[in-house]
Amino acid sequence: MSEENKMENTKTMEDIISLCKRRGFVFQGSEIYGGLAGAYDFGPWGVELLNNIKKFWWAEAVQKRDDYYGLDSAMFKFPKVWEASGHTSGFSDPMAECKNCNTRIRVDKELENIGVTADEKMSEEEINKLFQDNLDKIKCPKCGKTDFTNAKKFNLLIKSNYGDFTGKDAEPVYLPGEACQGIYLNYKNVVDSMHPKIPFGIAQIGKAFRNEISPRNFLFRCREFEQADTQYFIRPDENKDKYEEIKKNRWQWYLDLGLSEKNLRWKQHENLVFYAKDAWDIEYNYPTYGFDEMEGVHDRTDYDLTQHSKFSGIDLSYNEDGNKFIPWILETSMGVGRVFLAVMAEAYNVEEVKDGERVVLKFPKKLAPVKVAILPLSKKEELNKPARDVFNQLKDKFMCQYDETQSIGKRYRRQDEIGTPYCVTFDFDSLEDKAVTVRDRDTMEQERIKIGELEVYLSEKLK
Ligand code: GAP
Repeated sequence: MSEENKMENTKTMEDIISLCKRRGFVFQGSEIYGGLAGAYDFGPWGVELLNNIKKFWWAEAVQKRDDYYGLDSAMFKFPKVWEASGHTSGFSDPMAECKNCNTRIRVDKELENIGVTADEKMSEEEINKLFQDNLDKIKCPKCGKTDFTNAKKFNLLIKSNYGDFTGKDAEPVYLPGEACQGIYLNYKNVVDSMHPKIPFGIAQIGKAFRNEISPRNFLFRCREFEQADTQYFIRPDENKDKYEEIKKNRWQWYLDLGLSEKNLRWKQHENLVFYAKDAWDIEYNYPTYGFDEMEGVHDRTDYDLTQHSKFSGIDLSYNEDGNKFIPWILETSMGVGRVFLAVMAEAYNVEEVKDGERVVLKFPKKLAPVKVAILPLSKKEELNKPARDVFNQLKDKFMCQYDETQSIGKRYRRQDEIGTPYCVTFDFDSLEDKAVTVRDRDTMEQERIKIGELEVYLSEKLK
C-alpha cells in the first residue's frame, strides 16, 4: 500500500474482521474443515446488511427508473459464451511460484506494490522482463526469499462438469467469470418482450467466480463473490454524455448509501481490459488496505453484442425506425462484498463511555440489520411475556430481535455492536404505566414511550 493510500483514522481491518465473526456478520467458508480460501459465508446479521445494500441498489437501478429492466439469469452458460466474450483467451493474471516454499504470487500486483505498472495487454515475455528487472525488490510474502519461477499467464475461469457424464474432458461449462454476460445473452429477449426505446438499461445482481491466484484481504479479493451490474444500451454517438451522467449518478449513490465523500475517489484505468474504451473505478479508503476499487464504470463500445452476434449467428442489432446498428454498452459493475466492507468500515466506531469503551456500528438506519431490539429487564415470566407481546406487535413492521440473556448493560453493548438504532426495554414499571424505555444507539439517550404509541414513534424515527 502506498503512503498516500494510508488512512488517517485508527480503525483497522483486523478489528472489523474480528467483529464480523464475533457478531455473526461474516464467517470463513467451510470453517470447521479449516476453511476454503477465497470463500466467505454471510451470517445472520451479515445477510440482513447484505440484503439491505442490495435492496437500496435495486431501488435506484430498477425501481425508480422507467428505462431500466431487472433480470436474474442462469449462472451456467453455453461454453461458447466465454469464447465470444474473450475470457477463455484473455482473462488471465501473471503468476509465479516461490521456488523455496511454493507460495504463488500475482506478479502484476507485486509489481504494482513497488510502483511498477504491468500492462494487462503485455505478453508473458514483456511481463517477465519487468519481473526480472525488479526482482531484487520483490520478496515472497511467506518465506521472504527472492527466488521465483518465471511468470506464466494463468486463466481465471473456473470449470464445471455441468451435463458432462463421460468423465472425459468435454468442452467445459464455466462458472461465470463476470455476472454481466447473462445480460448480453438476454438483450434480444428484453428487446423482443419489453420493446424498449433506446437508450435503455438492464440490471442484475449475480455471482461471479474467479480462480484468483492469491485471494486475500477478507471479502476484498475472493474466488466467489457477487456483482451488481447495470448495462446501458445506447446509440454509438451517445457514449460521452451518457457516460458522464452514469458516473455522476453512481457517485451520488454512494453518498446516499452513507459513505463519506472524503473516503471516495475516482481512478481512471491506465491499462484498459481487453473490451473497454474507457474505464473508471470508484475507490473507497478502506482501513489498513487504503484506497482500492469498489466499482468499475466501463465504456464497453459495441464489443459484447458484436462478439455474441458473431459467435451465435443471431443478429443482435437494434432497429430504430429502420436504422439498424449494434448498440454500445456503458457498464457499472459493483462488487457487493466490497461495498459491504466499506459500509462496515464507515460504521465502525470506538467511543469512550462512562464505564469504559463501547464499539458501535453507526449504520444509516436503512441499512441496519436489526431496527429494534426488545429487551425485558428480567427473564421472569411476568416481564418476558408482555415483552414478547411488544415484539409480536412490532415484528411485521420492522426487523426486530428479542433478547433476554445477560444483563441489560451487556445487551445494550451487543446491540451497539450490531448497529441496532433502537433498544426497547420492558421493565417492572411497564406493567403499571404501560410504557417502555427507548434507547437511541447514537446518543444513548432514553425516552419513555407509551406502548400504544410505540409503532408510530419508531416509524417516524426510522424514516
Ligand atoms: N463486468 C465487469 C467486471 O467484471 P471487474 O472490474 O472485473 O469488472 C467489477 O469487476 C467489480 O467486481 C469490481 O469493481 C470489484 O468490486 C468486484 N470484484 C472483482 N473481482 C473481485 C474479487 N476477486 N473479489 C471480490 N470482488 C471482486
